[in-house]
Parts: sequence; C-alpha cells; structure tokens
Amino acid sequence: MSALFSNYGRRDLQIESGSGSKLTDHAGKSYLDFTSGIGVCNLGHVHPAVTAAVENQLKKVWHTSNLFQSDLQEETAELLVKPTHLNKVFFCNSGAEANEAAIKLARKFTGKTKIITFEQSFHGRTYGAMAATGQDKIKKGFGPMLADFQTVPFNDFDSLIKYADSQTAAVMIEVVQGEGGVIPGNESFLQRVQHHCNDHDILLIIDEVQTGIGRTGKAFAFQHYGLKPDIVTSAKGLGNGFPVGAVLGTEEVSTAFGPGSHGTTFGGNPLAMAAASAVLKEVFSDVFLDEVMKKSAFLIEELQKELSPCTEVLEVRGLGLMAGIEFSHKAAPLIQELQNDGLLALPAGECVLRLLPPLNMSYEELAEGVKKISKAVKKKSILV
Ligand SMILES: Cc1ncc(COP(=O)(O)O)c(C=O)c1O
Repeated sequence: MSALFSNYGRRDLQIESGSGSKLTDHAGKSYLDFTSGIGVCNLGHVHPAVTAAVENQLKKVWHTSNLFQSDLQEETAELLVKPTHLNKVFFCNSGAEANEAAIKLARKFTGKTKIITFEQSFHGRTYGAMAATGQDKIKKGFGPMLADFQTVPFNDFDSLIKYADSQTAAVMIEVVQGEGGVIPGNESFLQRVQHHCNDHDILLIIDEVQTGIGRTGKAFAFQHYGLKPDIVTSAKGLGNGFPVGAVLGTEEVSTAFGPGSHGTTFGGNPLAMAAASAVLKEVFSDVFLDEVMKKSAFLIEELQKELSPCTEVLEVRGLGLMAGIEFSHKAAPLIQELQNDGLLALPAGECVLRLLPPLNMSYEELAEGVKKISKAVKKKSILV
C-alpha cells in the first residue's frame, strides 16, 4: 500500500531521467515530452545553464531567509521585470502562492474586497486561489469559499460589467485559460477589460503562471495584446523545475506590501534564484522568443494539416507553444494511446489534448510529435 495521499490520479509510468525534450522511464523506454512537467521545464530537462547555476549555488549557500539583503534576488527581480512595464517583485514558491499574494495585495492596496474572475479559470488550490478559480469541481467539499469572488463568463464583456462595481478591487484573468481547455482570450475582450479597469480604479491581475516565461512567444502573454496589468503572477517555467513563484507589480501597488505585511520563509531562496536567473537569461531574449513564435506557427500548421480530415477534431488552437486540440470525445484514451507510442501529452478540461513542449524542442521533434498524434487520432477515429 502506498504511504502517499491519493489526491493525484497518477499514470502507470515512472520517469527515471530526462534530457532536453526526452524522458526515459525505469524500463528504459524513451518518450518525447509534450508536457514539460505541466509547462515547467520550458528549457527542457536538465538544461546545462540552469544545472550549472544551481550546482554553483549549491556549493555556496542554500538558504539564508529574507532577514538579509540578497543580490541574487535583486538580480533575478530585475531580469524578471525588464521586458515589462512593471518594476517590483515579490518571490514565493508556487503559482497558488503567487495568486494568493496578488489577491492580498489587491485588497490591501485598494481597500476594496470584490474580485472578478472567469468561468473555467484555474488559479490554484489554496483558499484564495481556489475561490478565484471558476471550476466547481475544484471547490467541491471545501466550502465555504473566501467571500466576495464573482465568476463571470470568459470572453463576455457585458457579463463582466454587470458585476464590476465601486467595491471591485480587481479583475483576475488568464490571457489563455490553460487548465480550463487552452482557451485564448479575444483581443477585443481583453482590451475592453483593461480599459474598464483603468476607467473604474479596478486593478488588473493577470495570472501568467502557465502562459508566462516565454510559453506563448512573448516574455508574458499579456504583451501580445498591449495590456498593462497592475499585477502579474508567475511560477511554473520560472525555475525550469526548481520550485519558485513570483508576483510582479507596479511601484504604486507594491507600496501596500510594507515591512511585515506579507512573507514566506522560502521565497527567493538562493537555489531558486540561481535557477530562475539562469532561465531568464536564456528565455527573455528576442532571438529565443522569435524562435518560439516560428516553432508555434510550424506546430499549429502541421497539426491542422494532419488533423483536418478527422471529423472528431473540432479545433486546433493556441498561442505560442501552448496548443490545444479539442475533440468531440474525451481526450483521456488518446493520451494513453500516445503514451504507449512514446509521447507524453496533457488533458485540459475533458475533451482537449494540451501540448506544452519545451520551448527549445527541435523542429524534427515537433514534427515527430505531430505524426504520433495524427497516428493516434486516426487509430481512435476507427474506435469511436
Ligand atoms: C494559470 C495557473 N494559475 C495557477 C496555477 C497554480 O500553480 P501551482 O500549481 O504552482 O500552485 C496553475 C497551475 O496549473 C495555473 O495553470
């Protein structure tokens, strides 16, 4: 019997090692990884620069606490905000924690309590992040929720303005809903949300836990649409597998977090900062991000070409290297079929196959993945 809680529905597969876009299981079978550890290992597994940075830090000091100055935190924060209009960073350890801090910051800064979020959204499993999440199945059995969260339909501006009032502290949104089904926000919707927030003293919080750190071909996904959020949350790809999260904010909102107002023991840990700064030096470059966009165009085009004859494929969509294939049936059997054939992929919602390959996956590997997906879908189309 396992000594672990059974809160994860684990697959019957144990990974032994990884290198680049490949993983190897304990029986020696190799897999092409289109999961990146759920959008985490954006530079692939055991990336040499990140590994060297962590190894170097391992020999110096592991943990010092936030009682002391940290050049490593300062440097990593500067790298993180550099491509944005934001200028302050709070480091934590995960996406949920980053969102939790963002919610606290928005309430404290505005003195207001209401937060508007969206159906199908996912913001994490802590109480604030869970209350913000627009999926009943995530909240089931854990009530009562934290008060004053209102969930409205995504991409529907009229519903949003029905609920936004003088007590609204913030709108919290994913530019592309990840867990909810790889659903991109409409450009005009996102821009109207931004304008409404500006005009009504409502803060805009963008959850970039999944979409950030180059995943969509920009440093952060909000940059595709010229948005100017007050607060951005980040985690997943920030440490390429080393646990680290962050809240980015304007100078103005950051003033609400004065000394003693918020904190965490491990936030900004030297090992996490070594990993994150190595990641940011690689990912936040125009050359790297342009290549992500080229690979994205290649992947989406190849998927559309291969899957267009399949009637059960309803849509191929995405932004950057965050792709979703929506089916008229559940995605789970396909994921198993792909695993058998040496490709690891993810679900998003019930009927969407989600692809989050490492951002530096080669064109050959992307093409090999598309072939495997096409083969599995066509095999399934015989079955369904
Ligand atoms: C958009 C988004 N926000 C928040 C989270 C929660 O992050 P974590 O699991 O690191 O707490 C996730 C995780 O999937 C996510 O996709």
